Order: sequence, then structure tokens, then C-alpha cells
Amino acid sequence: MSSCAAVTAPTTGPPLPPSASRLPQTAQLDALLTIIRNKDTPRSDFIFYSDRIIRLLVEEGLNHLPTLPKTVQTPTGMPYDGVSFEGRICGVSILRAGEAMEQGLRECCRSVRIGKILIQRDEETAQPKLFYAKLPEDIADRWVLLLDPMLATGGSALKAIEVLTDHGVKKERILFLNLIASPEGLQNMWTKYPQVRVISAWVDEKLDDKSYIIPGLGDYGDRYYSG
Ligand code: PRP
Ligand code: URA
Repeated sequence: MSSCAAVTAPTTGPPLPPSASRLPQTAQLDALLTIIRNKDTPRSDFIFYSDRIIRLLVEEGLNHLPTLPKTVQTPTGMPYDGVSFEGRICGVSILRAGEAMEQGLRECCRSVRIGKILIQRDEETAQPKLFYAKLPEDIADRWVLLLDPMLATGGSALKAIEVLTDHGVKKERILFLNLIASPEGLQNMWTKYPQVRVISAWVDEKLDDKSYIIPGLGDYGDRYYSG
């Protein structure tokens, strides 16, 4: 018999470095991830349920941005002492797979500027190679939501952060959003860039000998773009 009582997922996962956090580990999130991890899930469902998780990640990322007090007048004639976001943001996707996260950001932040960095892992060595970067010209003045669904060795994310800091972005203003991270990748991020906050939907067990996340979901870009 099924039960409606369980709202938390059965696992709490490995301990995380201080720069890293996870979405609330709910049964709903676990169910969404179970669908996209399943090798038999068709591409249309992979996209739909990935997009659901991406939306949760973006909402959580926005919770990490600073706010300032702001008072408004309501139609009742009374003031409301609330807050407004401090500073401007932009998204930066690590292509190809990170592009899949852009729509989720746009749904939460209308007209948001989005830059792109094309980095590809070498299939044999897993070393990242930088091909191209196009970023908003005023990116140094913005908070950056860095988007890539998978954090495996961390090589691609580290390379992307190097590009951002070379363009004047402060490390403390970078939030890296990903769906599945490995403990190794999180540790590498913490060691090199402890100031960069990393928000993952889930943290898996480890990497395999080809530097794929285990149990993971395989190659995210292939599954999202070519099924
Ligand atoms: C994947 C993924 C990350 C990277 C993660 O991209 O989207 O960018 O690998 O691995 P890492 O942490 O070990 O660097 P990939 O280079 O396969 O390209 P894709 O986006 O075209 O799939
Ligand atoms: N890239 C992916 O898409 N998946 C992994 O497990 C590692 C890198």
C-alpha cells in the first residue's frame, strides 16, 4: 500500500564542503531525479522533468542573493516594509548542456541577460577545453548565476569561473547551479574557489574511471539534445 506521509527522501547524502548546499532532499525531488536518471526515459520526459528541477534550482539560487529594505504603499493606504533585490544579475551557461537551464532562469527573471561559455570535456582525458566566451559587457558589476547541469571532476566549472574572474566578476558574486554533483567535484571547487557558492539538486556517490558521475544520469547534453 502506498503512503502519502513521507515527504523526505531516504538518503541524506555525503557531507558537503562549506561552499556547497543541496536543495531540500524531498521525495518529490527524488522522484523527479529518478525519472531523468532512468535510462529508459524518453527525451521529451527527460526535458520536461529536468526543467522542473531546473526551476527549483533557480528559485533556490535567487534565495542566496542579497536584499535591501524597501517600503511600498499598498492599495489599502498602508505601508508595507519589505525588501528588494540588491544589485543586478545575469546568467552564464556552460555550453552545450548549460543552455538547457537558460529557460528556467528566464521564467523567474524576465529579460535577464545571459552570457555563454563553450567548454567541452575531452572524451578520453576528461580535461576541459575552452572554445568561446560571450559575456555581458558589464558583467563585472553583476551577480552571476553560472549554469551547468553536471559537476563531475569540476574541471569545466573551474575553467568557466576563471573566465568570469578574468572579466572582473567577484568570486563572492558567483552562484553555480547544477542538477547532480560528485563529491570530488565539490571538493575541487572548494579547494580552488571557496568563495563560490555551489547549489546542487543532488550529490551522488563518486566518479567512475571515465570521470562520469555514479549513479548519475549519463551524458546530460546527449540526453537533452539528442535523446
Ligand atoms: C559535461 C557537463 C559539464 C561537464 C562536467 O559537458 O555538462 O560541462 O561535462 O564534467 P567536469 O566537471 O568533469 O568538467 P561536456 O563537456 O560533456 O559537453 P556538453 O555540454 O556538450 O555535453
Ligand atoms: N558530463 C555528463 O553529462 N555526465 C557526467 O556524468 C559527467 C560529465
